Amino acid sequence: MPDDLLRYRDEFPILQRTTYMINNSLGAMPRGVYDSVREYCDVWATRGVRAWEEKWWEMTREVGDEIGAIMNAPSGSVSILLNVTSCQAVIASCFDFSGPRNKIVYSDMNFPSIMYFWEAQRSRGARVHMVRTDDGIHVPTERILDAIDEQTLLVPVSHVVFRSSYIKDAKAIIEKAHRVGALVVLDCFQSLGCVPVDIQALNADFAVGGVLKWLCGGSGTSYLYVRPDLAKKLEPKLTGWFAHEHPFDFEVGATKYSEMPYRFMQGTSNVPGFYTALPGLRIIREVGVDRIREKSKKMTARLIELADQRGWKVNAPRNPEVRGGTVAIDMPNSQEVCQELLKRDVLVDFRPKAGVRFSPHFYNTMEEIDRAIQTVDEILAAMAVTAK
Ligand SMILES: Cc1ncc(COP(=O)(O)O)c(C=O)c1O
Repeated sequence: MPDDLLRYRDEFPILQRTTYMINNSLGAMPRGVYDSVREYCDVWATRGVRAWEEKWWEMTREVGDEIGAIMNAPSGSVSILLNVTSCQAVIASCFDFSGPRNKIVYSDMNFPSIMYFWEAQRSRGARVHMVRTDDGIHVPTERILDAIDEQTLLVPVSHVVFRSSYIKDAKAIIEKAHRVGALVVLDCFQSLGCVPVDIQALNADFAVGGVLKWLCGGSGTSYLYVRPDLAKKLEPKLTGWFAHEHPFDFEVGATKYSEMPYRFMQGTSNVPGFYTALPGLRIIREVGVDRIREKSKKMTARLIELADQRGWKVNAPRNPEVRGGTVAIDMPNSQEVCQELLKRDVLVDFRPKAGVRFSPHFYNTMEEIDRAIQTVDEILAAMAVTAK
């Protein structure tokens, strides 16, 4: 069967020069980014300060809606911030940890930055409860559900685990949290753009992530979705003039909070980041995450099959339904193998406790999967010869 998604390969220049399988870290740059960034320069050069009023102020909403469309979020419900860690800070600033409901529940499979942030909130009264993994791939859902109780305030968890690509049962976690009055911050960094996310069906309270991985959008653009009925009630203390109802009145004194998407912002946005984000977001929307997911499952299955044939340890779920877009493989000398792969233009990365992470996206071919693993064979053979 011809692979219709391969017609997008020409949109990504780096695919002509490398075997690009590092989408869990940084997606390939779409060709359209050159024109988009030029447009930013042209607007700045020709319209100067008028660009704020004519375009840039509203671009937050435009980019937020592009991202929102991929997760079925209502228009205007997604704010743009710099990174996922600062999204946690804005969320944390909406709450008070001095009362009995001050428990933060997450698993040790979270991205470390999220843990570093919440651990640091202990000094502000937050009680952090970390649920642990046994196998380094997943944490049993029941274990997370059991930890969420009447004293739980927030549950900041990854939808797809960065280390193993395990897809958490977000629905079960959100349902349990809501039953006991807690709120869930779903980190969709490793899911959105690769695994279908319907944020309204999930009924998540917050969703965060960035565009630089599976959304092929570059750095400095992260999203914060807040459930619209909840957003109205929250008043972030990490705030600034962008979140004011009348920012250009420059009123003195306490803020009057605006509506979403500006309500959770602080100061001047990273406008160049908007321009780098849009081309990738538009391609992902056009391709459609369902088609991406279908192909991704085949590619990750092939990676596992090839690793199994060689007896290498696979640190990814075997069940395709709970496996995201990445397969981490711990072959002999993984770290050195990774360095050699990079030298040979097979772009992957290495993570301790995981191995070499292969993250193909919709624009990769099955031949590239086979070639990447054959390149590992060649590297290991060369290492064996040198060792003799
Ligand atoms: C699941 C997840 N969350 C968060 C981050 C990083 O967040 P930040 O935008 O703060 O750098 C990553 C980066 O790899 C990630 O995989």
